Amino acid sequence: MTKRNDDAQLPQNQGGHREDRTGFEIDATTRPLDTRMHIRQAISSDASAIARVHVDSWRTTYEGIVPESYLASLSYEERATRWKLTLENPEGFFVFVAEVSKEIVGFVSGGRDRSNDQEYTGELRAIYILDPYRRKGIGKQLVSAVVRKLQEQGHSSMLVWVLAQNPHRRFYEEKLGGEFLRSKPIEIGGAKYEEFAYGWKDLGALLLRLR
Ligand SMILES: CC(C)(COP(=O)(O)OP(=O)(O)OC[C@H]1O[C@@H](n2cnc3c(N)ncnc32)[C@H](O)[C@@H]1OP(=O)(O)O)[C@@H](O)C(=O)NCCC(=O)NCCS
Repeated sequence: MTKRNDDAQLPQNQGGHREDRTGFEIDATTRPLDTRMHIRQAISSDASAIARVHVDSWRTTYEGIVPESYLASLSYEERATRWKLTLENPEGFFVFVAEVSKEIVGFVSGGRDRSNDQEYTGELRAIYILDPYRRKGIGKQLVSAVVRKLQEQGHSSMLVWVLAQNPHRRFYEEKLGGEFLRSKPIEIGGAKYEEFAYGWKDLGALLLRLR
């Protein structure tokens, strides 16, 4: 049984396409997000903001699903310490953040698949967006950032593990067209759950789907 442990500056939007530090284009102009959004690779000083998004997103996403006591026990400080450590020692692992009006409202992390899957070598490890910023296309753009980075690292496939009870699981199924691969048991706060793995054999095709 696994215990859950999920651990990327554009000029201001003047309309049209923009390019971030890693060289890919982000177009937030056609979405109903009227504020300026950009995606950049995270740096260690982002740890506290990422931790806040992480904890707040866990609470809104898993309320009524994972034990209340577990959600209450999540600590911004403890998460921030872990994120700082992770960001300072990335070892092939990378994180991108989405900023709206200079505030981090979401993040995504990825890297080499931790289970050493032979067929799906890249992994989207975690993606969390604050509740008020969901369903505005940010998730799609964060996934694109991970996919491009994985491609840069030589991966052509990836998988993601999602809690079976996650109310946003359809993002992977419907929006991203992930293929169900397998399930595994997981323990969160002393309770037993199941996680589903979804996979993409062709990251190039996924990028086209995300356009
Ligand atoms: C899952 C998540 C990352 C998706 O990001 P997002 O910015 O909301 O998604 P996008 O706006 O890019 O894409 C939205 C599309 O994905 C699908 N989708 C996303 N969330 C969905 C949901 N809860 N139910 C059904 N479809 C969903 C729909 O096709 C939707 O299109 P629509 O808004 O036009 O109907 C975001 O909702 C989130 O952070 N959720 C909470 C944390 C979480 O569950 N993370 C995954 C843990 S592994």
